Order: sequence, then C-alpha cells, then structure tokens
Amino acid sequence: MASLGEVAEWRLSASSKSHLWAMFGFTSQIPHLPTSPFAIRGTIPAPCSPNLHPPRVQQAPSVVSTPTPPPPPPPRPYPMPSIYLETFGCQMNELDSELVMGSLKAVGYAFTADRERADVVLYNTCSVRERAEQKVWSRLGQDRLRKLDRPEIVVGVLGCMAERDGEDLIKRMPVVDILCGPGELDKLPGLLDNAVRTRSMTGGFATDTNLTRPTVMTSARQVALQGNTSRRSATLAAAEDTLELLDLSRAVSPEDHGMTRSAYVRITRGCNKFCTYCVVPFTRGAEVHRPPRHIIDECKRLAQSGVVEITLLGQTVNHYRFEHGSSVTIGGVMQPQKGRSYKGGHTRDPFAGAQTTTFADLLAQIHDEVPSIQRLRFVTSYPRDFGDDVLEVMRDHPRICRYLHVPAQSGSNRILSMMNRGYTVEEYLDFLDRARSFLHQPQIGRPLTIAGDIIVGFPTETDEDFALTIGLLEQARYKNCFIFKYSPRPGTIAFDKIADDVPEEVKRRRNNKLLAVQNTISAAVSRDFIGTTMGVFIEGLSERELKKRRPERTGLIGLTISAKRPDDAKPTSTDGDACCAGACEDDSHTLTTMAIEPVATAVQLSGRTEGDVIVHVDAPPGIAPESMIGQVVQIRITDCRPLSLIGEVVEPVSLTTTH
Ligand code: 5AD
Ligand code: SF4
Repeated sequence: MASLGEVAEWRLSASSKSHLWAMFGFTSQIPHLPTSPFAIRGTIPAPCSPNLHPPRVQQAPSVVSTPTPPPPPPPRPYPMPSIYLETFGCQMNELDSELVMGSLKAVGYAFTADRERADVVLYNTCSVRERAEQKVWSRLGQDRLRKLDRPEIVVGVLGCMAERDGEDLIKRMPVVDILCGPGELDKLPGLLDNAVRTRSMTGGFATDTNLTRPTVMTSARQVALQGNTSRRSATLAAAEDTLELLDLSRAVSPEDHGMTRSAYVRITRGCNKFCTYCVVPFTRGAEVHRPPRHIIDECKRLAQSGVVEITLLGQTVNHYRFEHGSSVTIGGVMQPQKGRSYKGGHTRDPFAGAQTTTFADLLAQIHDEVPSIQRLRFVTSYPRDFGDDVLEVMRDHPRICRYLHVPAQSGSNRILSMMNRGYTVEEYLDFLDRARSFLHQPQIGRPLTIAGDIIVGFPTETDEDFALTIGLLEQARYKNCFIFKYSPRPGTIAFDKIADDVPEEVKRRRNNKLLAVQNTISAAVSRDFIGTTMGVFIEGLSERELKKRRPERTGLIGLTISAKRPDDAKPTSTDGDACCAGACEDDSHTLTTMAIEPVATAVQLSGRTEGDVIVHVDAPPGIAPESMIGQVVQIRITDCRPLSLIGEVVEPVSLTTTH
C-alpha cells in the first residue's frame, strides 16, 4: 500500500502539472505521457538461464571437514557473446553503464570496444535533446545493414530513448531486439539472456558451426519499461526496491576506476521539477532518494578499492532528504524515498526533524565516515533548494570541493516562468552571492568555482530576453557554462503547448554569441587564479606529454596513466550536443597504457583543482612523475590558457624522489 507521503507526492505532481496547464491557459488536467501505457513486458527469467549457467546445487552441510568441491559446469554450447556498450548523455548514464557492465560481467559476458565484431550491441541513450537521439538512430541504421550479414547479432536500446519511445522504437527500427528503460536496468541480464538464447536457437553465433543461419529472421524481442507507471506511487516502491539492488550490487574493483581514482555515486533518481522543456521527469520517473546507509557503504567500498574522488549524482542533487523509519519493508530493509518540495535559503530544511537525513547531513556523514575520500563533489544542483546548511557544511569540511554546478537556464524572468523553474533571476543571483560569501576564499587557496547551463531560443524568447541572459552571464561569472539550443522534446509541456517559434538561425546566432561572452568571462576568471596556490589532484600525463610518447615505446618505468578507461572494454561515452564555453575540456582522460621514459625535459602532468579547473604542471627535477599521480599537490598558478592553467609545484614533500 502506498504510504501517505507517496500519495501526497503523486497528488503534488498531478496538481503541479495542472497548475502548469493553467499557466499556459489550458484546461486539460492529465497531460499526454510520452510512452504507451504498459508496464514490464516480455518474459524476464532469472539472470542465469539453465543452458548458459547450470543451476547451482545447494550442498548439504558436510560432516567431513574438507568440503567436496562442486562439479565443474558442463561446457557451454557456444561461447559467451561479446558486448559493445556505448553511452550517450550525462554522468547518470555513465554510472548506469558502469553498473550494467558490472552486472553483465558477473554472469560471464565479455566486453569489447569493437562494435563491428561484437555479438551484442547496446546503446545507453539520452533523450534530453534531439541531436543525442539522432546519433543513436544513425547507429541503429548501421546495425540494420550489418545484421543483413550477421543476423545473429543482438541489438539493445537502453535508457531514456527506450523509455520515451517505447515500442514505437522497435516499429521504426525492427533491428532492435531489447528495449530497457533506465528504471529497469536491473532486469537487463535476464532480457539479454533471453534474446541471446533466441538468437542462438535461430542463428547461432559466428563460432557455432552446428547451427545453421535462419533464412527468415525471428524476433528476439525483450522489453522492460516502466511506461506511465514510472510516476505512480503504488508501483514505485516495488520498482525501486529492485532497482536499488543494481546500485547495491555494484562490483567495485580497483581497475574500474584506474589511476584517476574517481567514481560516481547515485544519491537520488528521477526528478519532480517538471521544467516545461525537459523529458527527464518522464523518462527517469519520480524523484527517489537512496537510504544514507547504502550511499555511505558504497563510498566506503569505493574508497577501499582506491577511489579518492567521489561525485554524488542526482538530477536535483541538493534536494536529497531521507526520513528514517518511515519506509521499511517486511524484511526490515529501508526503502528509498520520494522527494518533497521546499524552498531553500533557510538554515535547515524546515520539514526536517530528528529522524531526517538532509543533504547537508549526508555530505557531512560521508566526509567524516570516509576520510580517505580526498574530494567529494556533487552535481547537479537546483538553485531554489539550496539551504545555508549545505553551504556551511561545505565551508567547514575541508574535503568537500568548493564547486557548484547550478543551471540558471535563462536570464529573463518571463522565460524562467514559462520554463517553470520556480525562481527569478534576482533569487538566482542572490543564491550565487550567498554561496560566494560562504565559500569563495582565494586567499587560502580555496576559491569557489561555479558552472552553469543556459538554454537559448526557448519559445517566444526575444532579443530583449536574450540580452538579459547575456547580463546574467556577466554577473554570474561562471568558470564555464554549457549552452544549449532549445530542442523541442515530444511529451514535454513546452512541446505540447508552445510553438517552437525561434528560428534555427536565430538560435544558432544566440548560441555563438553566448559562447563568445562566456569565453571572455572564463579567461578573466582564469587570470584571477594567477599568483594563487591551490591543491591540484594530479590525474596523469598531460595531453602534450601523451602526444610526445608512443604506446609502443618501452621505457624504464611502467605505468598506466590516467586510466578513466584503462582497458578497451570500457563503455565509450559520447557527449550530447552541449557547447561548453570555458574550461571544461577533458584532456587528461586518455585510454593508454605506456611507459614514462626518462627524458631530458621535464615531464608535464595534468590535474584538477577542487573547482574542476584543469592545471598543467611539470614534475620538478628529482621527483618521480608517477609518484605525483593520484595525489593532491600544492601548485602555484603562473599562467593561464583559454581552457586551463599552468603552475609549478610548491610543496613536493611526500613525493618519491628519483635516483
Ligand atoms: N532543449 C535544450 N536543452 C535542454 N536541456 C534540458 N532539456 C533541454 C531541451 N529540451 C538542458 C538544460 C539542462 C541540461 C542537462 O540540458 O540546460 O540543465
Ligand atoms: Fe529536467 Fe528541470 Fe528536472 Fe533538471 S530540474 S532534470 S531540467 S525537469
């Protein structure tokens, strides 16, 4: 039965939507949902099917002291297929892909970076803007052609596109065998197993010579979507229970996070804000918060495997709150909880009692209970929900990074209201002032850096509205800003109710203008850093250094550098269509294993400040460069480039010297 809180939440979302309807002068109460009304379909077997993995026989306790080892499994009828997994979109999708990969590896699948030769091709998709979807359609078109030659391959669409388009996606692209929404990823091993077995029975894999290829393709269709139940309270708890298992069963191993030693941890799922342009509340469902104990334990396990930097993820991450004791299953397990609405600006969430873990509490607990995490960040923040309690915790806990990503979306109050953002420009700028008054301390090497998001060309945006957005950028002084052209998304309120009336050419012009404005601001922000000394977390060799060295050259010191993707079996990530102005390049995450050869000139390394600014630095004479990697090193900034800073080491105290 749905709890009172859950019912209240559902009423809230329904009424907030009808409020939006009224705002645009429409009387309809229930908006059109983008997905067709079905829940989970397809047969979902246990992850390990008998013919891939024989069932484990439960051994009775033996009276003999040395237990008999279980008999070896019979040989598989065909080798486990190899999987190519490509990720589109945000950090949340990157994390989902990592978890999916872990769960599939656990049942024996191998991953490959070679799409052409993979037996299974999976796309973890993003629907936030149309261009990210177009890339997936084009990949699927290529797969359709490949499938003429290799009918046995299995193609799966995961994530937001699967949820949004539902079975229409298969109708448009019959090459797709698996559809799995972001709320159903825990079911993927079962879906894939079914699809693979269907394929192997009809066509077999390349190495399976006993089976003939089919003359007529039979469908291996497997579908798991939440459909329009994704926001319904009654089904939410059950769905969340199993989805939570995906995060809980995260396989943590040192090589997953490599030398960058950084990892994402989800704290909330979904979103309740219903910004009128955004598909996320429909594709990812209602906002749900994970139990703090689960989150802290996950951070501990990551720290034990060598991770030193953790980024907490949520669509509105600072809206986190958990009410203890209110949502416990029969087995006594705490369930994740739905979010409730409140405005920030206060010292503590006014609804929070003694049984509540607020976002500020959670940050402090992770900081204190997992001291080996040197850097704790969080994205993405919602401006309206930011209480001073969070700013105080950030100020008083030295390993919480002074970095905020708080999208403004527009500098015009009229547009913000049409977007249903729930704040004015004045309130937004007031928040930035508040945040800076707590956290901007360049004199002690701890400046606050702020990143933003802006949408240009939202319906009805005039030149005057746009001029106000330029004004906002100038006042906000972001370190960098992601600038997007408005992309009408079917199923959203803006798509249904407001014509996309800003011509593409005008959107493009405004986009370029804002990029230029932000680049000037970013350069000025960077110049302000010159002369200051900051802690820089060294991630690996700089791009310049990598270009100088070729992987096949061998040297004296073997080292895997900057191993965000340490082997070629990691999922590849393809960004959406964000145009990022300012220092947000990602040049130190490189897929390479090589040796650092002693060279006459200094070895240049790259790292990031706590504010996510890239810094290049030469290893000082006599210091082994590899001993700096994975460390926070004090660096004096001496110069800047458009997208990065240059510095010199001032405190090589604990670093290994070369002989
Ligand atoms: N069109 C353009 N940009 C969008 N965003 C979300 N939805 C849309 C859309 N329909 C942008 C917002 C958000 C970021 C993740 O994507 O700026 O903060
Ligand atoms: Fe989308 Fe708004 Fe939620 Fe962000 S806060 S995910 S823009 S609905």
